[in-house]
Amino acid sequence: MPIKTAKGFSKLSKEAKMEWIVNEYLGGDDTSIKLLKSYWHNDANVQKIHDEFIENTITNFYIPFGVAPNFLINDRIFCVPMAIEESSVVAAAAKNAKFWMDRGGFKSEVISTLKVGHVHFAWYGKFEKLQKLISSIKTKFYSETESLTANMRARGGGIKEIKVIDRSDLEPNYYQLEAKFETCDAMGANFINSLLEEFAKILEREIQASSFSNEEKEITIIMCILSNYTPECIVRCEVSCMIDELSDEPNINNKEFAKKFEQAIHVANIEPYRATTHNKGIFNGIDAIVIATGNDFRAVEACGHTYAAKDGQYKSLTNVDIQDNHFKFWIELPISVGTVGGLTSLHPMVKFSHQLLGQPNAEALMEIIAAVGLAQNFGAVKSLVTTGIQKGHMKMHLLNILNQLGANKEECEKIKFYFTDKVVSHSAVVEQFHKIRGIKNTIDFKKNS
Ligand code: MEV
Repeated sequence: MPIKTAKGFSKLSKEAKMEWIVNEYLGGDDTSIKLLKSYWHNDANVQKIHDEFIENTITNFYIPFGVAPNFLINDRIFCVPMAIEESSVVAAAAKNAKFWMDRGGFKSEVISTLKVGHVHFAWYGKFEKLQKLISSIKTKFYSETESLTANMRARGGGIKEIKVIDRSDLEPNYYQLEAKFETCDAMGANFINSLLEEFAKILEREIQASSFSNEEKEITIIMCILSNYTPECIVRCEVSCMIDELSDEPNINNKEFAKKFEQAIHVANIEPYRATTHNKGIFNGIDAIVIATGNDFRAVEACGHTYAAKDGQYKSLTNVDIQDNHFKFWIELPISVGTVGGLTSLHPMVKFSHQLLGQPNAEALMEIIAAVGLAQNFGAVKSLVTTGIQKGHMKMHLLNILNQLGANKEECEKIKFYFTDKVVSHSAVVEQFHKIRGIKNTIDFKKNS
């Protein structure tokens, strides 16, 4: 394939960009242009908002936006917005929200809300000298950035702590200026990064102006950046019930179920292969609401995974405790999200999600997100240790298979009815579809379609 370089691509109009793609990559076949345009919003102003979120936008990419009602969290009922493409996730969230609503709901609590960032730098001298200098100039980091922190301070936030850390055990001459921040209802990335860059300038200037030797005056600022790992921005959410109430399905023995559930969580705590999938299931729910509320799901996920490994081994983010007849299940993890700034005031669907949730502040949103993650995990582990995951998953996936096959409405209904009491598999659906259409085998089907 020849290399198709593009010069000044970002400056082309949207139409010109699409044309270039069609000519350079799709052999001039402009049917794709129709496809791309069919995904444009019919209101040009709304489309413009989306165009401007990123560079080189040519169209929109849909994923379903669904809701999971009946989430009783801290005695309030929420209908949770979820943006996700995986077929069974919203169904599982809704089912397990209702299940726990009938058992007192989710108790969620924000434990801490601090964010953190670092100026990473190289310096050549004795750490004690650096530490002394930084304590003597510490107030300057606060006073010289007052204009940047004024709004945040007015809302009760701002810089909460600054210290220098010796990381020369990891790498010779490597140090960090670590700062902690309260960013209130903002996720705070821009606020933190702007401050860190100011701190770096102050640090460099003060080192130059100090009585250090020439060698000690040498400093290399490597970078200034917030950390997406926020182990001091933690939320905990819990559900509990009597073991006798742990399932409403007659074919499930509650005691055996509780035991197996406990074993499954234990496996996720001792076995990283399982822990990864276990936590992935948690993020099925968390990502969906994080995306719907316009937050950065990559940051939330990265942080959650680091937290899951905080004890030196990657573990489950959920835990269970069974005492006598009492079942307690909880999640504890860092969630750094905002309810102001970023997409929250721009994306119409994000605004809708916040409205649907009753305009939560960042702490309330953390509490809701944790509940969704916990519900998702309860549902996944319950299925895994009872019916197996494929039963529910494939039931939801059935529609995708039927759509791939091009089944019409009547055929869909017939096949859905057929599978009410049967295990769904791709081949079984294809077989049933062929039967209904009177097709003998796949080759015949291809000829007929
Ligand atoms: C699938 O997306 C998620 C699960 O694999 C999670 C789990 O195994 O706990 C079902």
